[in-house]
Amino acid sequence: EKGGFSSFMDKEIHDQPAAVRDTLLGRLDEKGRLTLDELHIDESVLRSVDKIVVIACGTAAYAGHVARYAIEHWCRIPTEVELAHEFRYRDPIVTEKTLVVALSQSGETMDTLMAIRHAREQGAKVIAICNTNGSSIPRESDASLYTHAGPEIAVASTKAFLAQITAAYLLGLYLAQLRGNMYSDEVIEILDELQKMPEKVQEVIDNEKQVQDLGTQMSDASSVLFLGRHVGFPVALEGALKLKEIAYIHAEGFAAGELKHGPIALIEEGQPVFVIVPSPRGRDSLHAKVVSNIQEIRARGAITIVIAEEGDEDVKQYANHIIYVPQAPSLMQPLLATVPLQVFACALAGAKGYDVDQPRNLAKSVTVE
Ligand code: F6R
Repeated sequence: EKGGFSSFMDKEIHDQPAAVRDTLLGRLDEKGRLTLDELHIDESVLRSVDKIVVIACGTAAYAGHVARYAIEHWCRIPTEVELAHEFRYRDPIVTEKTLVVALSQSGETMDTLMAIRHAREQGAKVIAICNTNGSSIPRESDASLYTHAGPEIAVASTKAFLAQITAAYLLGLYLAQLRGNMYSDEVIEILDELQKMPEKVQEVIDNEKQVQDLGTQMSDASSVLFLGRHVGFPVALEGALKLKEIAYIHAEGFAAGELKHGPIALIEEGQPVFVIVPSPRGRDSLHAKVVSNIQEIRARGAITIVIAEEGDEDVKQYANHIIYVPQAPSLMQPLLATVPLQVFACALAGAKGYDVDQPRNLAKSVTVE
């Protein structure tokens, strides 16, 4: 069933173009317009939402963090992302006007389920974004938007992450259109970009050899750091989580802007640091800021592994290793930049001789609180 791949994780990394494509499938009509008829929630309720709270755990929570940038930007609705187990126990402010979006691959994560129950008791509406048909989380939610990543077998989540981002983006666009924050032609334009992503994800996968070699080469590393900014920040967190989970290496993700507020003290000669670089075509000069972060850590001896957009020549001189991903709008970059991090973790763990599908101490679905 591994289809010729050495592990389920490896296979599921390769399933990602299909996971994104299938999650978009059937949700656009022949004119490229968004149709989410499956969301059986009254449109007037969705129009009156004054806050969105995304609840999830682990990788799904990082997908939520990515989605937050898009949802707030498109919908202008204040959006929070919270770990389900923290949300439930801090007496959160939830009203009938709160929309809770619960993200879960398995649909059986008990922490997330308990948070959903709590939110619904306070009158909130809950939309589940889930990969498993008929599981507990969609059953206990008001509505569901399924990700169509197919069954995920490896304990470390890969294709579900990309599918969760895709589905959450669809939801964000739907709300933006419904509430009049966006005209339908703007929505169609973004959907058009989204539809180009499966092919671009495939391009990243086609270049996996370079990253696999890097993973093998770095299998003696005792610590790896990840830096990102804007949507690249949760991607950095996800890259670190993959490495902890399957390679048992100390790994940490930071917001690049936070470097000078503490983490730069960690940098010493030979420290590998992945940096996810925003597009140089983006607004807000974030590219220049992250490039300057790379210079700072390079000057202190870091080995920089830079993930940048094709055509970004400026950053090359500061990279010990450069991994190019196709050009895409900023909000789409997580769907591309995450892939090399997954490949890296998988190759490195494999080089150490670990079973990447069944990492120690972990279970695929966490059905206890
Ligand atoms: C990481 C991973 C976990 C899950 C988390 C939530 O690779 O798999 O962090 O993302 O346990 O699981 P679901 O999405 O099933 O609720």
